Amino acid sequence: MAPWILPLLYSLILLQSSTSSFAKFQPRYFPSSIIGPSTRSVASNSEPYKTKYFTQILDHFNYIPQSYQTFQQRYLINDTFWGGPNAPIFVYTGNEGNIEWFAQNTGFMYDIAPEFKALLVFIEHRYYGKSIPYGGDKKKAYKNSKNLGYLSSTQAMADYATLIIDLKNNLTATNSPVVVFGGSYGGMLAAWFRLKYPHVAIGALSSSSPILQFENITSQYSFNNIITQDFRSESENCYKVIKGSWKQIEDTASSHGGLELLRKSFHICKNYISGDAIEGWLSTAFVYTSMTDYPTSSSFLAPLPAYPIKQMCKAIDNPSLGNDTFAKLYQAANIYYNYTGDVPCFDLADDSDPHDLGGWQWQACTEMVMPTSGNNKESIFPVSAYSYTGHAQYCEAAYNIQPRPTWITTEFGGHDIAKVLKRFGSNIIFFNGLRDPWSGGGVLKNISKSIIAIVEKEGAHHVDLRFATDKDPKWLRDVRKKEISILKDWISEYYHNNLADSYTN
Ligand SMILES: *[C@@H]1O[C@H](CO)[C@@H](O)[C@H](O)[C@H]1NC(C)=O
Ligand SMILES: *[C@@H]1O[C@H](CO)[C@@H](O)[C@H](O)[C@H]1NC(C)=O
Ligand SMILES: *[C@@H]1O[C@H](CO)[C@@H](O)[C@H](O)[C@H]1NC(C)=O
Ligand SMILES: *[C@@H]1O[C@H](CO)[C@@H](O)[C@H](O)[C@H]1NC(C)=O
Ligand SMILES: *[C@@H]1O[C@H](CO)[C@@H](O)[C@H](O)[C@H]1NC(C)=O
Ligand SMILES: *[C@@H]1O[C@H](CO)[C@@H](O)[C@H](O)[C@H]1NC(C)=O
Repeated sequence: MAPWILPLLYSLILLQSSTSSFAKFQPRYFPSSIIGPSTRSVASNSEPYKTKYFTQILDHFNYIPQSYQTFQQRYLINDTFWGGPNAPIFVYTGNEGNIEWFAQNTGFMYDIAPEFKALLVFIEHRYYGKSIPYGGDKKKAYKNSKNLGYLSSTQAMADYATLIIDLKNNLTATNSPVVVFGGSYGGMLAAWFRLKYPHVAIGALSSSSPILQFENITSQYSFNNIITQDFRSESENCYKVIKGSWKQIEDTASSHGGLELLRKSFHICKNYISGDAIEGWLSTAFVYTSMTDYPTSSSFLAPLPAYPIKQMCKAIDNPSLGNDTFAKLYQAANIYYNYTGDVPCFDLADDSDPHDLGGWQWQACTEMVMPTSGNNKESIFPVSAYSYTGHAQYCEAAYNIQPRPTWITTEFGGHDIAKVLKRFGSNIIFFNGLRDPWSGGGVLKNISKSIIAIVEKEGAHHVDLRFATDKDPKWLRDVRKKEISILKDWISEYYHNNLADSYTN
């Protein structure tokens, strides 16, 4: 039996460690970020937006006096392309991190803004980045469950609605159609926002949003099966080497002098090491590389070459390394953790959080209970089952609270989604790339004429939202073309109806 299991919680972006054996391991390893040669950056010298703050109410759903407390919510705005009142407003519904980082990785909105004459707005999610309640005092906001209690998806969406309505008033743009965009958890928020606030947003582009990764709607094995498939379809040998390595690492770690051997083999810094930590560190590289297996070089979770899984398997299959499993794994890990070549040693104790994703831990312990950690016999990782009990115990210890694993489907639905949304919803695009482990929990089938699933076999985590580059493959250009054409339909329908209404009024 493997003495370790994969972490119970993955932030949609960030893998979080929470099981006992992983508790020391913080897989947040972001070498000083550089931008790959064919990756455009929007935040090099001057930021392509203005930063603003909005006074937001702490609790939208309560009228006891303390709920009237306020905090400063950050949003980014770019009006360079905007056609003025009546022209569209594209809003990014921020997810679990610093909004500037998401704005940098949502180049698609910038790319299409001129064509739509759209105003661009990126709103930061409460409790992340600079949008911290309690006077911006993060320590205080995160101090205990009492103060963290206002961190929820429902409050966040109410923030977005409040801010959007107020902004439109300020700009005398009450007639402008609003389309919400989001990737990952931000994509879940975008889709749910369209369902909850149809009077605020006329449509949603929801990219790589696993809104069905709740309860047992999606198998707990799906996530790791997709990672397995990503490597296996590249090379059977690559899959076998990785799959066979875990036991070898465990055996070595528990043998005399084994930890030192592992430290040397993997170039790990002198400060901290354990067999579990190495396994966590390696598995993190495989998970993230699957998520960001993009067709062009990129710098989202880490700087990476184009098709990084192909590069990893090339290293693992390299005949000159013979049967030296550790050398192969080191070479593979080096692609994820050291593509820039400027990392002197791998620091397994590094718990820095440059994109400020830490609040997800609370969200995962309250409503975002997403079982993804199961590994079946075929998995590239050791066999293990998701344990709700383990998760709940962790949350009890960390926050003294019990998760509510059925709240999300109660609040937003999910069961029989096709049946429900066919009759009730409209104007949502669900994009999913099938290389992305989160795609298993996504909406992969068309639901109605205007609730559309765009599914791309070659795609990874919200690849459609990235800046276009001249190296983009045809399938990616086609995906974006399709999205643009659907957005156009929604907007012209909106103008058409508005015009018709003004005649009949
Ligand atoms: C909006 O974005 C464009 C493209 O990146 C940039 O040239 C422009 O300066 C930005 N405008 C504002 C107001 O930040
Ligand atoms: C709208 O204008 C008021 C008054 O200037 C300001 O306090 C508020 O923050 C503005 N709203 C937004 C969303 O910027
Ligand atoms: C989900 O499935 C697991 C295992 O099959 C079961 O133990 C659990 O009760 C199920 N949970 C729900 C919410 O149906
Ligand atoms: C690995 O290769 C070495 C020599 O290249 C050989 O002696 C050894 O038996 C091989 N080990 C395995 C497990 O194949
Ligand atoms: C990172 O890459 C550089 C350049 O290839 C290499 O010299 C260095 O040893 C690598 N770092 C680690 C920790 O392996
Ligand atoms: C859904 O319908 C659109 C056309 O409206 C089509 O382009 C797309 O491929 C369909 N998606 C799936 C998953 O069949």
